[in-house]
Amino acid sequence: MFDEVAARYDRTNDVLSLGQDRRWRRAVVEALDMRPGEKLLDMAAGTGTSTAPFTDAGVLAVPSDFSLGMLRTGRGRRPDLPFVAGDATRLPFADAAFDAVTISFGLRNVGDTAAALAEMRRVTRHGGRLVVCEFSHPTWGPWRRVYTEYLMRALPAVARRVSSSPDSYVYLAESIRAWPDQRELGELVAAAGWGEVAYRNLSGGIVALHRAVRV
Ligand SMILES: C[S@@+](CC[C@H](N)C(=O)[O-])C[C@H]1O[C@@H](n2cnc3c(N)ncnc32)[C@H](O)[C@@H]1O
Repeated sequence: MFDEVAARYDRTNDVLSLGQDRRWRRAVVEALDMRPGEKLLDMAAGTGTSTAPFTDAGVLAVPSDFSLGMLRTGRGRRPDLPFVAGDATRLPFADAAFDAVTISFGLRNVGDTAAALAEMRRVTRHGGRLVVCEFSHPTWGPWRRVYTEYLMRALPAVARRVSSSPDSYVYLAESIRAWPDQRELGELVAAAGWGEVAYRNLSGGIVALHRAVRV
């Protein structure tokens, strides 16, 4: 599915999120607070859009994804990023290879959430950090109702005009609705062995950032 949407993926994101995706990406950079010389893995990095802000800030960031279509599009646009083909549930990296690991709008798409969280823990050094940026559930009732209308009705209609694969955006809406809420995802992160799990909402809970520390 991601191979098919690769070419227009970034533009479609900008349109469908009404430009909010740029703010969310800045929040991820702030949450990770990378220090000079630290190494970051950006898992399910797609075309590298979630990795680029780190590279541009001088961080050694490795984008990894299992969609060759996304990787090819990314490499064409940002040949300076060190793309690595890899499956989130069987990472091609050594134990404790990274100081921090992040995954933006990717964990929901990985078939086995627990396996991905465990693998990301394995490749993070003790005391290293995890930041998961993922769609979540608005906390305020009226806002949740407006958003759910947008998600289930407007988003697939807009996607039909701007995306190369509108069905993928019907999947997007349905997968967001079925995804665990903030507290439940925090429990999954903790169950995978991560410590100090905390989260904060962005855009009223449309997106949540979960943070954790490798213990
Ligand atoms: C919505 S995109 C997110 C891309 C990028 N992180 C961003 O923020 O724009 C989700 C990505 O997850 C990748 N993905 C899904 N399951 C995966 C897996 N098991 N291993 C590696 N990548 C996976 C897809 O190929 C896709 O590129």
